[in-house]
Amino acid sequence: MRPGQPRHYLMCRPTYFTVSYEINPWMDRRTPVDTPLAVAQWERLRDAYRDLGHTVETIDPVPGLPDMVYAANGATVVDGLVYSARFTHPERGPEGPAYLKWFADHGYVTHLAEHVNEGEGDLLVAGDVVLAGTGFRTDRAAHAEAAALWGREVVTLELVDPRFYHLDTALTVLRGGSGSAPGTRVPDDGAHPGLTGPPPVDVVYYPPAFSPATQEVLRERYPDALLATEEDAVVLGLNAVSDGAHVVHAPRAERLAAALRERGYETLAVDTSELLRGGGGAKCCTLEIRELAAGSAATSR
Ligand code: ARG
Repeated sequence: MRPGQPRHYLMCRPTYFTVSYEINPWMDRRTPVDTPLAVAQWERLRDAYRDLGHTVETIDPVPGLPDMVYAANGATVVDGLVYSARFTHPERGPEGPAYLKWFADHGYVTHLAEHVNEGEGDLLVAGDVVLAGTGFRTDRAAHAEAAALWGREVVTLELVDPRFYHLDTALTVLRGGSGSAPGTRVPDDGAHPGLTGPPPVDVVYYPPAFSPATQEVLRERYPDALLATEEDAVVLGLNAVSDGAHVVHAPRAERLAAALRERGYETLAVDTSELLRGGGGAKCCTLEIRELAAGSAATSR
């Protein structure tokens, strides 16, 4: 198995997971949720990450916050700097402080967000830049706030289809998701012999989830990107997690998995169907903690 980049993840067990309110088209209060099944699926996802060599930490779930399992929304961490989440819907409001407290308690430098943003649901690191969704949840003003905080370029991407209300339901960063500081040397692993500079970024996205202007931005920035079909997108196939070599994805995203394998990735299907009842998949359940890379430009800060 080709080694991926070891990642550091934060997850939240779905102990109190249920669908008691509806804030996205996937949620339906009338169908009962099988919470033990959700927990079992979540445990398999956590174990899959550990088997890949990644570190998984957990935050204690809070009763009455059923969506807290979607850890990706809890904050965004770049260069060890934590940008707190500020939720659109009051039902999820207390999750922001809960996650922020976890980071403060674990010694991270935290920044309390002024503007509405739903963490990594809408803020995806892609090499040196941060791709930032807007349209349903995260406010554009948060994009500027994040850019100032991390000193990175933030690229605004407009979402237009309510089924894909967070950027991480419409686009997956396949390579470059842990970020890089300008000038970072790429390890000579044979795949990129002698290459210096930020590691190449690779993404897959579903074009119709974005406005025409944003589709143009994506085409220009990532001319070689893989394009997902509606079939893959509607099973939240793009809510996948990649370590640069392995991609953990929804089992029903078969066409996408085949295309990823053809592109050189190893694919790992992990069933998160019960968590889809809240409108999330593997990526939603996973918050990446990106430490400050040793020797990176940011050390001179
Ligand atoms: N029920 C949650 C919401 O609508 C699901 C969040 C999914 N998370 C994600 N990163 N896309 O806010």
